Parts: sequence; C-alpha cells; structure tokens
Amino acid sequence: MLPDDEVCLCFHVSLRKIRNYLARENPSVPSLISECLSAGTGCMWCVPFLKHLHTLHQQGKEPDLRISPEEYMRNRATYRESLGSSPVPGESERSSQAFTSDPPPHTD
Ligand code: FES
Repeated sequence: MLPDDEVCLCFHVSLRKIRNYLARENPSVPSLISECLSAGTGCMWCVPFLKHLHTLHQQGKEPDLRISPEEYMRNRATYRESLGSSPVPGESERSSQAFTSDPPPHTD
C-alpha cells in the first residue's frame, strides 16, 4: 500500500495520515486512532488493519500494510456484502468493541 492509499475507506483516511498521527500522538492503544478523522468508526473493516499499524508503530517499525489497494478494496467490498445493504443492528456497539476483539489482519 502506498502512503496516499486509503486505509479507512469510509472516512477516506490515508496511510500517510495514520502514519503522521501515530508519529505525532504516539497513542497508547489502537482505538485512539479513531481520533484521526474518525478512522475505524464506520463499517469497521479497517479496524484490524489499524491495530496492525499501531503494533508496528509500537515496535518502532514503519507502519505499513503489505496488500495492494485493489485487493484491500475487493476484500472490503466482500466484507460489506456479507453485512448486507441495510445498516447492521448494533453496529455502533460493535464499533466500540472492535478495537479489542478483532484478530490481526493477514498482510502477506
Ligand atoms: S473502512 Fe474504516 S470504518 Fe469502514
């Protein structure tokens, strides 16, 4: 993924914006990344990826996602289809839990 590719597709938050946020704020927990333009608070597709970026940052590595933006968008479309077209009941509740319960993404 390149710096200007979007990690949070719901809120159009790029990898560059998230990197800058991590470098500037050094958030103690991944959920604080939501303060960066609401990343991760929509469909929640990107939450595992935000966690992965946070982990890399905490390890002193450059936050990066080894997935093409095309594949990322395709996977997100599949995810959205699995939710159906109507709003998901309890989605806001899931939003608050997402940062603590999702497994890390596969990025190889
Ligand atoms: S892609 Fe980030 S909340 Fe939907």
